[in-house]
Amino acid sequence: MTEKRPRVGVTRRLPARVEAALAERFDVVLPDTQRALDANELLALMHDCDALLPTVTDRIDAALIGAAGARCKLLANFGVGVNHIDLDAATRAGIAVTNTPDVLTDDTADLTMALMLAVMRRTGEGERAVRAGAWEGWHPTQFLGRRLSGKTLGIVGLGRIGRAVAHRAEHGFGMKVLAWSRSRRRGSEAGTRIERVSRLEQLLEASDVVSVHCPLVPTTRHLIGAAQFRQMKRDAVLINTSRGPVVDEAALVEALETEMIAGAGLDVYEQEPRVHPGLPGRDDVVLLPHLGSATVETREAMGFKALDNLVAHFTGRELPDRVN
Ligand code: 8YV
Repeated sequence: MTEKRPRVGVTRRLPARVEAALAERFDVVLPDTQRALDANELLALMHDCDALLPTVTDRIDAALIGAAGARCKLLANFGVGVNHIDLDAATRAGIAVTNTPDVLTDDTADLTMALMLAVMRRTGEGERAVRAGAWEGWHPTQFLGRRLSGKTLGIVGLGRIGRAVAHRAEHGFGMKVLAWSRSRRRGSEAGTRIERVSRLEQLLEASDVVSVHCPLVPTTRHLIGAAQFRQMKRDAVLINTSRGPVVDEAALVEALETEMIAGAGLDVYEQEPRVHPGLPGRDDVVLLPHLGSATVETREAMGFKALDNLVAHFTGRELPDRVN
């Protein structure tokens, strides 16, 4: 008789090496579609599985957790952000939640720098002109952007990714780095030249580039809104690779339209995959489709981290990345 293996529901297709490794240990249920599962499909999967491996596109709220029954005891999230999961409801239901920190830090920080450069140097605009056959040849004042090197960067949320961005900005681009986080510590960061400011307003007033790196929790929803755009320099740009709702998108469009700020680089949106209709027509914004961790290396590492948590759970070991 073969031993009964734990049944793990995976909500999205993952890199092949990750799916193969999962299948070596577990009875894996994979979706037969590339789209996100709806609430009923998620419910059925949670109901029938001992653990779930969800992603950012799965809304796991209190209603779903309440209806899912008692079988599923682990949500091994593929990703570091867990704002799509009701952690309190999971805890009340005795469900552990884990995430995948660290492995995506460098790639997300790299993409943040790519967005800064793209906005400051107008690379999207230039690329669109070349593709459209609208480029009429070099001239001295064409597509003049602004220099990134040496400017002041304001980091909102100094966690792992914020620090990795600060490191690149300081060492790669000679930028002065200011940081503000909800813990509101002041002074300089040990071993770096990052200067912590105690009020967000101080950072907004002094930065040429403001880059958002805090998690989405109730206190960070619309942390950057109309009042904050008014405090930014008129030639400053906003970069967001964290979560869309940290920025009030309607207020951002208004700030761009009224030239309160000079541009924005976004990888995340308030209602993905929907993008505010005021954004795609603008040349002063660069819009990416949530690519922060989208490299082969990181997506595989995220999968293996979720696997580590699943294995720990089913072998009775402490969960390496528990968040609740
Ligand atoms: C992922 C992310 O693309 O880790 C996160 O929080 O936003 C991205 O790395 C996404 O979460 C995958 O579920």
